[in-house]
Amino acid sequence: MPELKSFTREEVKKHNTPEDCWIIIDSEVFNMTTFADLHPGGAGVIMDLAGKDATEEFYGLHRQEVLFKYAPKLKIGTIANEKPVIEMYTPGTISKVPYGEASAWQGHKSPYFTESHIKFRSAIRKIYDELLPEALVNEDLGKSPTIELNKKLGAAGVLAAQIGPGPWLQGLNLPGGVKPEEFDYFHEMIAHEETARLGTPGFADGITAGLTIGLPPIFNFGSPALKSKIVPEVLSGEKRICLAITEPFTGSDVAGIRTTAKLSADGKHFIVNGTKKWITNSVFCDYFCVAVRTAKGISMLLVEKSDGLEVKPIKTSYSIAAGTGYITFEDVKVPVENLLGKEGKGFQVIMANFNHERWAIICGIVAGSRHVLEETFKWTNQRVVFGKKLSAQPVVRSKLANMIAQIESVQNWLENITYQMVNMSYAEQTVKLAGPIALLKYQSTRVAHNISDEATQIFGGRGITKTGMGRVIETFQRTYKFAAILGGSEEIMQDLGVRQALRTFPDARL
Ligand SMILES: Cc1cc2nc3c(=O)[nH]c(=O)nc-3n(C[C@H](O)[C@H](O)[C@H](O)COP(=O)(O)OP(=O)(O)OC[C@H]3O[C@@H](n4cnc5c(N)ncnc54)[C@H](O)[C@@H]3O)c2cc1C
Ligand code: HEM
Repeated sequence: MPELKSFTREEVKKHNTPEDCWIIIDSEVFNMTTFADLHPGGAGVIMDLAGKDATEEFYGLHRQEVLFKYAPKLKIGTIANEKPVIEMYTPGTISKVPYGEASAWQGHKSPYFTESHIKFRSAIRKIYDELLPEALVNEDLGKSPTIELNKKLGAAGVLAAQIGPGPWLQGLNLPGGVKPEEFDYFHEMIAHEETARLGTPGFADGITAGLTIGLPPIFNFGSPALKSKIVPEVLSGEKRICLAITEPFTGSDVAGIRTTAKLSADGKHFIVNGTKKWITNSVFCDYFCVAVRTAKGISMLLVEKSDGLEVKPIKTSYSIAAGTGYITFEDVKVPVENLLGKEGKGFQVIMANFNHERWAIICGIVAGSRHVLEETFKWTNQRVVFGKKLSAQPVVRSKLANMIAQIESVQNWLENITYQMVNMSYAEQTVKLAGPIALLKYQSTRVAHNISDEATQIFGGRGITKTGMGRVIETFQRTYKFAAILGGSEEIMQDLGVRQALRTFPDARL
């Protein structure tokens, strides 16, 4: 980093040639001489502003993160007696953009959130903000999170924050110093929201997706021995777990799974044979929670990585950093003690797990939609077309109104359902919330579809460009469909929601 000095504007003016080119951005002085030829926007635009104040032009075309990346190499000083007027983003900061955060974070009263939730969000956002440069590079390169990063996030409590309140949190660190006994589903909701806000969905799923859906069957249905071994290993980040239900022949129709588990002659092992498709994190996992067919029906087994179990990566629309894989089991030996729940009762384990998985998906997609809204709102206030900001066009304001109204509706339903979860046992949630969660998942992904469409139009070419101002929007429009398909597709969610409601329908003659 060059030694920083103080200059006058008159001094900067003299550095206005290709051999010696300085510019000012918000009272800070940058030496662009060497960088100009490497500049992605070309040297010409920089030379036009050599020796001048380039603040307006810079902020019209770049995100502030460009400065975080390049300032250490290019910044040579500041203008004497001037102070920056544009607030610099610091990790963990809560957005001031209208509707850029849920209303409780924008000064409105809420019956749900306390100081504990407020400090928790800031702390976990700070962790993710600091991770963002690594996440962006790895999302692009398709590099899964390393075990070192996993352990670091385990130690910071980021992993434990993705699986809800319970005895498994005892003795663990949680972000913001939140105590395990004060941690509730609203904290977990915030954790999923912040994971989605990273804006690197493949890499983020590489960190959290497997354990969010794969660990609950262990602590809810595993034997005490399995729980005490596996839960701490996964929450500390030393080992990784995934949930393997879907097969090439069986997706929405879970009851049709074909993977078999036959009891060995001595009765001590199940012998597993079959295939599983699209299993998130499976490429680098140590543990697999697998739905199998035994003599007594569908059952759930915990399978350790072992001989006969192979995983091949599958490329999907998002980064292979998520470790999505195709698993083949060929005579894989699994101890009978690894049964989760009772033999033949695996369908109940799967269904109970789905509620939590779907709710976590909703938290992520609503937060992702809100992040898109925030970026779009900023952009409409920045981009000048036909001599006016985009936000000066009534058509653009109408699109923004559409986005805001839809996000606020699903956010409010999500907070209401989360409140029910806080006040119900796991068993009660399974019975009473399956329908509402399914319908909210359906509605949230429809909203995401609309948000993506409006935002991409408002960003124009940048909405379909991977780098630069439209990065968040391009990523979202390429990947929001994941939430509409994974963990139960929209059609299945609609149907389930209404069927659940019909179950409690009063006598039709009343
Ligand atoms: C990237 C990725 C990651 C995944 N991660 C995991 C994972 O970690 N673990 C895991 O077990 N699974 C995982 N899955 C699988 C996912 O849960 C399934 O893709 C999903 O359940 C849908 O199944 P399917 O793709 O086979 O669609 P299908 O069941 O073949 O359905 C195709 C279409 O038909 C519609 N349809 C089906 N039945 C009906 C009906 N009765 N009425 C009307 N429409 C209907 C569906 O809505 C869907 O739109 C993942 C999938 C992907 C793509
Ligand atoms: C410290 C100074 C600057 C740095 C580090 C920088 C860096 C970058 C980078 C990394 C990009 C790629 C897109 C992105 O990631 O946002 C870019 C694009 C661009 N830059 Fe700069 N830039 C600087 C100053 C300027 C200035 C003063 C102008 C003057 C107008 C300018 C004009 C452009 C243009 C036109 C593009 C292409 C943008 C687009 O396609 O939308 N840059 N710049």
